[in-house]
Amino acid sequence: MLKRLLGGRHKSTLSEEELMKQLDISKLPVHVAIIMDGNGRWATRRGAPRSFGHRAGVNALREVVKLSVELKLKYLTVYAFSTENWKRPREEVNILMNLLVEYLYKEIDELCANNVHINPMGILSELPPKPREAVDMAIRRSKNNTGLVFNVALNYGGRSELLKAVREIGQKINSGEIKVEEINEQVIADHLFTKGQPDPDLLIRPSGDCRVSNFLLWQLAYTEFWLTDVMWPDFGRREFLQALLDFQKRERRFGGLIT
Ligand code: IPE
Ligand code: IPE
Ligand code: MG
Repeated sequence: MLKRLLGGRHKSTLSEEELMKQLDISKLPVHVAIIMDGNGRWATRRGAPRSFGHRAGVNALREVVKLSVELKLKYLTVYAFSTENWKRPREEVNILMNLLVEYLYKEIDELCANNVHINPMGILSELPPKPREAVDMAIRRSKNNTGLVFNVALNYGGRSELLKAVREIGQKINSGEIKVEEINEQVIADHLFTKGQPDPDLLIRPSGDCRVSNFLLWQLAYTEFWLTDVMWPDFGRREFLQALLDFQKRERRFGGLIT
């Protein structure tokens, strides 16, 4: 039972080719979300500074985006920086922001060549000027792309997203644009950063922690969770394929019964 619950905690011994062969391409999740966690611990275990882990984490992200494109996934959402991550030492926050800027400028050509649409989500106005410029550039350059929608959660928090939605809806009530009775789940979903997107089918969290850490609180209502002890910098194609394979074995009931 526990083994089933923690599916992904058990390292696969299969090769990438074997995993790929088992995968049913017609039953892939439409939307995959990932909490890219464990960079710091990965580095500390190697006696290296945390920044070393963050840099290695960017490489893992690059591979996961590449595989998402190869598999023709429709939506990939990655948690890159939370509204609570500002609590970290200033030096670490700066390193994370610099890595983001570097990643976007370095990768934008290839992402666009792969038809990836970059959709940063979070309170972007609170980002420092350089990351904001990089984010604006990525939005501008990729806005007409029709392939993978790549949501990058930056200064993102599920509660702050819901708070923003409530305020916006409240303003529309004040101005007479909508009535209180007209608020329904769709209206709320339409005021989130994931407007127009399906909810994640699969949430991956590496590095052993079992919590959502303020990620996609509304959208995860019926998402399948896949956890692994592998740290994010070590998360590669095999882990991603294993998560997708395990997802394909899950029985999703959405509160109903399978008849
Ligand atoms: C994830 O790795 C990166 C961010 C949160 C930005 P962490 O930095 O949280 O690494 P751990 O969890 O401390 O190992
Ligand atoms: C979640 O990881 C945020 C990101 C991966 C960007 P954290 O490392 O910040 O979460 P906690 O503090 O362990 O819950
Ligand atoms: Mg962490």
